[in-house]
Amino acid sequence: MPALGFGTLIPDAAVTITASRDALEAGFRHFDCAERYGNEREVGQALQAGLAAGGIAREDIFVTTKLWNSNHRPERVEPAFQASLDRLGLKYLDLYLIHTPYAFQPGDNQDPRDQNGNVIYDRGVTLLDTWRALERLVDHGKCRAIGLSDIVLEDLKPIYESARIKPAVVQVESHPYLPETELLEFCKERGIVLLAFAPLGHGMKPGLLEDAVITGIAARVGKTPAQVLLAWAIQRGTAVLTTPKSAARARENFDIAPLPQDALDQINRIQTRQRLNPVVNTGVPGFIPQRKASVA
Ligand SMILES: NC(=O)c1ccc[n+]([C@@H]2O[C@H](COP(=O)([O-])OP(=O)(O)OC[C@H]3O[C@@H](n4cnc5c(N)ncnc54)[C@H](OP(=O)(O)O)[C@@H]3O)[C@@H](O)[C@H]2O)c1
Repeated sequence: MPALGFGTLIPDAAVTITASRDALEAGFRHFDCAERYGNEREVGQALQAGLAAGGIAREDIFVTTKLWNSNHRPERVEPAFQASLDRLGLKYLDLYLIHTPYAFQPGDNQDPRDQNGNVIYDRGVTLLDTWRALERLVDHGKCRAIGLSDIVLEDLKPIYESARIKPAVVQVESHPYLPETELLEFCKERGIVLLAFAPLGHGMKPGLLEDAVITGIAARVGKTPAQVLLAWAIQRGTAVLTTPKSAARARENFDIAPLPQDALDQINRIQTRQRLNPVVNTGVPGFIPQRKASVA
């Protein structure tokens, strides 16, 4: 799996197509998708066009997508997987993740709510039930690896222990304000890739891109703050996802180089602690614009 990945959490369909194409042209070969992002078709369109135009083979790219919360029931897993595959226009996936450990009421409504606006969870399925269904996808050769997302160490451990096919990847929010050091150590010891999302702080301002430590290092090494944050993520042994939306930013975010050790040390000493995306607490997306339940 290429350590530097392009994330497709892009609400606008047209921007999804241009940004995915620009990412491919800039050199990105790892694409992170999700049924919940509602744009697998557009990502697939951009990938097919880019592969054909650039003489790039399917085997040269690494594509991930994710099972949404309303599809955790084992009998819903294979159909959800196949629907994603069809929308992406692919014959296999490199990686399939359980998007969050929270099972929502099964069905086509991705955001099921009761009359008080509270999420309707599904107590009739465990995370291990869903994991077993993902293992069967690997058995049948439909995807090459499986993993989890938005999971805390305490919930990852029992799945890891019980899994016949171990999680290959754990995708969580991680950046200098949320280094997830304990989870990273657990993953490294077991050969699991920790795949960091929101490495630039999801572009929230003021935030990581304006942090004086980051801007100071950027000025010193002749790189941009975004390049410094992405390099830090890779040098500490995580893989990382970023979402540039223009061709210039795609080139910028792909053009990263190792930082000197003292710069890494300086970033590791940052004391600010901040989780930006509360999805890990409830399964409700923090970065995806909420849609009305009736049209979700
Ligand atoms: N598993 C999960 O629950 C989960 C949750 C969140 C994200 N993800 C995945 O992780 C991916 C990355 O997350 P993210 O979008 O939060 O990543 P991010 O790269 O930290 O944030 C993207 C934001 O950074 C800005 N940006 C990008 N490149 C920049 C640069 N060179 N200089 C200044 N600003 C820059 C973008 O601004 P503009 O919009 O102006 O370009 C955008 O607002 C997502 O696309 C998705 O695939 C997964």
